[in-house]
Amino acid sequence: MFLKITSAERMKNTEKRRIDSMKVTISVIKADIGGFVGHSHSHPDILKYADELLSAAKDEKTVTDFHVAHCGDDLELIMTHGKGVQDKGIHALAWDIFTKCTEKAKSMKLYGAGQDMLKDSFSGNLKGMGPGFAEMEFEERESEPLIVFMADKTEPGAWNLPLYRMFADPFSTAGLVIDPKVTKGFTFEVHDVKKNRSITMSTPNQSYQLLSLIGTPSRFVIKHVFRNLDSEIAAVSSTERLGLIAGRYVGKDDPVMIVRAQSGFPAVGEILEPFAFPYMVAGWMRGSHHGPFMPVSQNDAKPTRFDGPPRVLALGFQLCNGMLGLPSDMFSDPSFDLARQKANEITDYIRRHGPFEPARLSSDEMEYTTLPQVMKDLEGKWNRLD
Ligand code: F6R
Ligand code: MG
Ligand code: MG
Repeated sequence: MFLKITSAERMKNTEKRRIDSMKVTISVIKADIGGFVGHSHSHPDILKYADELLSAAKDEKTVTDFHVAHCGDDLELIMTHGKGVQDKGIHALAWDIFTKCTEKAKSMKLYGAGQDMLKDSFSGNLKGMGPGFAEMEFEERESEPLIVFMADKTEPGAWNLPLYRMFADPFSTAGLVIDPKVTKGFTFEVHDVKKNRSITMSTPNQSYQLLSLIGTPSRFVIKHVFRNLDSEIAAVSSTERLGLIAGRYVGKDDPVMIVRAQSGFPAVGEILEPFAFPYMVAGWMRGSHHGPFMPVSQNDAKPTRFDGPPRVLALGFQLCNGMLGLPSDMFSDPSFDLARQKANEITDYIRRHGPFEPARLSSDEMEYTTLPQVMKDLEGKWNRLD
């Protein structure tokens, strides 16, 4: 039996298919433009202002949808649009919002207002300007769940361990063993942030080589992950290192990351599983200490103890024709209570080391903190040992 479809319905279906097959870009762009109080939190008036500015951009159709969040003192702009990654207009919009929020933060005498705005004016792209960004473009699937991770008081390499566990460790992601779309593994693009070069490695074949690099997260940082089956993008992180851009200590990079979930990607629970272990990251107080990475809800994304411990926030979205819709606060779940408790125990333990390594970063990494300025005072005061 034939179903009769009217031409209006046919047009509606064609339009629906056009929307269904449209490419969507998600851009997560962040900057510390001023803290409340100190470096611990973001002022609600700033978050409201950023929301208003992005609302206007949505009205003007510059972005399709957006969500404003904060992780500690970092303002996080989560935006969708159809313009591809590193789009001049989207980067200019983010720069403009950070500039306006910096002005407001200055007028409110918030702490470190404009901290991450390393350049005076925008020149076409946010690369090397201070703000961090993670962006990906893809064809929206029939259902497109994704998770945006945001961190405070740590560096971009902090995503190395969970990315490896999500996309290359079957003890964490059961799909690597069970799901035929996933068993071919994933390819990792790793950036050497000190030598400004990149390399790609495919797992499981090159797992050990990959680990030999990414085990040094201060230097080797996973930028992208692609699915081997069809080269589809699976994850992207922000890799900007503020200290390397500015040539001096200007606070921690506090990276962001986007991960696609389900139907041939790791499941939501497989993506979150690595964070049930509060592994050690570099950053924390004065960007100079190791501390446990504590998974928290949006409400608890305000590091206070010894300016920490470093926090990770995860907001899940269920994209719908480019619209982000409501965020789901993924770590607002009692099953992460033990990770938080363990992080507090580790905090007590490692803090007792005071200024000693390994609580304090190794001297190599201290090069990018304010310690070298202190060491200058000792120059010329040393006696040679024969
Ligand atoms: C680390 C961080 C804080 C500050 C510390 C000292 O990323 O933002 O731990 O380094 O509060 O800040 P200043 O030097 O601004 O007094
Ligand atoms: Mg700050
Ligand atoms: Mg911060």
